[in-house]
Amino acid sequence: MKTNAGKVGILTGGGDCPGMNAVIRAIVRKGIQNYNYAVMGIRNGWKGLLDQDFCNLDPNSISGILNKGGTILGTSRTNPGKIPKGYEKARKNLNKLSLTSLIAIGGDDTLGVAYRLYKMGCPIVGVPKTIDNDLYATDLTFGFDTAINVVMEAIDRLHSTAESHHRVLIVEVMGRNTGWIAVYGGIAGGADAILIPEEPFDIDDVCCMIRKRQSRGKNFSIVVVAEGAIPKQIGKAVAADEMDEFGHARFGGVGSYLAREIEKKTGLETRATILGHIQRGGEPTAFDRVLGTRFGVAAIDLVAKKKFGYMVSLKGNRIVPVPLKKAVSRLKTVDREIYEISKIFSG
Ligand code: F6P
Repeated sequence: MKTNAGKVGILTGGGDCPGMNAVIRAIVRKGIQNYNYAVMGIRNGWKGLLDQDFCNLDPNSISGILNKGGTILGTSRTNPGKIPKGYEKARKNLNKLSLTSLIAIGGDDTLGVAYRLYKMGCPIVGVPKTIDNDLYATDLTFGFDTAINVVMEAIDRLHSTAESHHRVLIVEVMGRNTGWIAVYGGIAGGADAILIPEEPFDIDDVCCMIRKRQSRGKNFSIVVVAEGAIPKQIGKAVAADEMDEFGHARFGGVGSYLAREIEKKTGLETRATILGHIQRGGEPTAFDRVLGTRFGVAAIDLVAKKKFGYMVSLKGNRIVPVPLKKAVSRLKTVDREIYEISKIFSG
């Protein structure tokens, strides 16, 4: 029998990610249809909770959003820890808005805040989101598949121009601390070298690989580099001075640095392409729509069971709950096995 079971809040935090709307839609649909919840959207991540900026969500407001990129709720990198009494304010506002539970859709930063609020007594469930796929305790995050498809398509396109001009082309992809996008996108696109944050690299080795290809008659090369990859010659990632509210440096520039150095050392014409936010924008793939939908359904089921302090996750092909504490305990770095596979195709 249906009862008016309470009011569920949803927020999306951190970088946007294809598939977020699929999660929101699934929570609203199942929450209203099966559990008779009222559902409220909190705008712009934790900022909206601090500012009490919200909207009601019903089947009409989520109609036609499954294929849309981004998030209809908006997002931000607001960190309650950076605001005086921010956590306390967030907790109080949950009560003021009469929310009986909150579903936070985000990466390690957003879910780190969610875990802290949970420890303060807030009824919270997490959903793992990031194109970077670096959240621990889930095999995959939604958004990753869309991002690697964008990278693959870009590399496919770059191949023909690299070959025509006999150039070295560097493709800089996202991945602050981990190289998941670089490895999967690079394997799918047939890159000649893949450089990731987990394995500092020597530019001379990259040049050596390029020369070897030349000696085999291959007078073009494609190098995929994650934005957080570390050239041994510098000893740290190439970053701008700015930091976000969670203290992350804004990376970017390693592609152009590599292009300059490779051209200098090999004498070959070298250019860099920075894929940037193109990897995050636009329509989610079928895989991400389905994964987002499954995560949303599982999240509202956890709410109905009052299983708070958990995040939904993918293990094999099953959706299972894992403690938020475990999910935010560390980052998931690139799997050795897949990295070794990528190296077989280097050069
Ligand atoms: O969402 C994570 C991420 O994709 C990182 O790989 C990247 O460094 C970051 O977002 C950049 O996001 P923004 O430009 O929104 O700060």
